[in-house]
Amino acid sequence: MTGGFCFSGVGSHLPDQVVSNDDLAKSMETSDQWIRERTGIGERRVGSTTTEMAVVAGAKALERAGLDPSSIDHLLLATTTPEYIAPGSSPVVAHKLGLDCGALDIQAVCSGWVYGLVMANGLLAQGLSRVMLIGSEMMDYITDYSQRDTGILFGNGAGAVILERNDSGEGELLAFDLGSAGQYRSILYAEHGGVWQMEGREVFRQAISVMQRSVGRALDNAGLAVQDIDLIIPHQANIRIVEAAWKRIGFSMDNTAMRLHETGNTSAASIPLVLDKALDEGRLFAGAKVLFVGFGAGMTWGTVIVRWAGDPRTLGHQQNRSKHQQNRSNMKVETPKLGRDGE
Ligand code: COA
Repeated sequence: MTGGFCFSGVGSHLPDQVVSNDDLAKSMETSDQWIRERTGIGERRVGSTTTEMAVVAGAKALERAGLDPSSIDHLLLATTTPEYIAPGSSPVVAHKLGLDCGALDIQAVCSGWVYGLVMANGLLAQGLSRVMLIGSEMMDYITDYSQRDTGILFGNGAGAVILERNDSGEGELLAFDLGSAGQYRSILYAEHGGVWQMEGREVFRQAISVMQRSVGRALDNAGLAVQDIDLIIPHQANIRIVEAAWKRIGFSMDNTAMRLHETGNTSAASIPLVLDKALDEGRLFAGAKVLFVGFGAGMTWGTVIVRWAGDPRTLGHQQNRSKHQQNRSNMKVETPKLGRDGE
């Protein structure tokens, strides 16, 4: 669509503290069975901060890409939960990672990482060589875990990718569709200092409908059919939303990557968290057509279709990554010492 790019590094991070469905059942009238059946969620993570998780995920992406921080030309941080109203969290993340480039927060809630992918592609088309795109969320900051609707859904986490300009034609953004509908703001919102307020059934209904529309538009823009897509990575909100949308679109769950059961809804972090796992599982290959689709509060939504390049720093390593990760988990991963305020 513009110049090409590859994903030269991918990394993710989940904080240690697990909140299981049984844990939630101690403070509200619910059950593990109900939550699993109605959402597909088994547990979620809490703790840490947006900045801290972003730095850990970003450092892993740099390490896997074998890149020096000084080679990154721009940082985009998709987050709903920056530590401050001003400034954004991205300058602090850039500083902690040793980047000295431009840094910008993107606030499109659960669609933020997909929006960021389109923005990153535009920056590369303007001549930049490498853009780091991170989604990081401390959802526990705006979630009341005693509320039966929102309390069962949200969790913390971060995922990072490095997009590297590559004009070989192997990998590129094939098409995208971004959209918003502010008239639906009241169905899912959090006020300053407040927690999520949600009309669950209406969000459920709208999510299915906007995903169907957005995926259809992106496929049309790319001149592709449903069966041309090799791997689908949807925003992880509720398995029933994905299944219902797929029934309408004609997608199969077989080539859909999910991680919802272990993360819950991590908003802008959810898609890169799944991407990292999909790489570990060997689900990406050179030339694969990968479709990312997100939706969330705003409402906002977005779909991006890319052709995956055969960059050895991601693809060549995927068979070794499980082993590599096993070794890493035996090592103590240095977690930057940051307070809730990101300092
Ligand atoms: N545990 C047990 N029972 C629950 C419950 C819970 N956490 N929440 C609701 N219920 C009960 C209700 O009281 C109701 O009981 P009743 O039939 O006796 O009155 C029944 O389950 C159905 O309630 P309802 O609110 O219609 O449930 P639902 O099937 O719509 O599921 C959500 C609720 C929140 C899981 C679902 O609406 C949802 O996931 N919506 C989308 C939310 C979302 O994805 N937001 C983020 C978008 S990025």
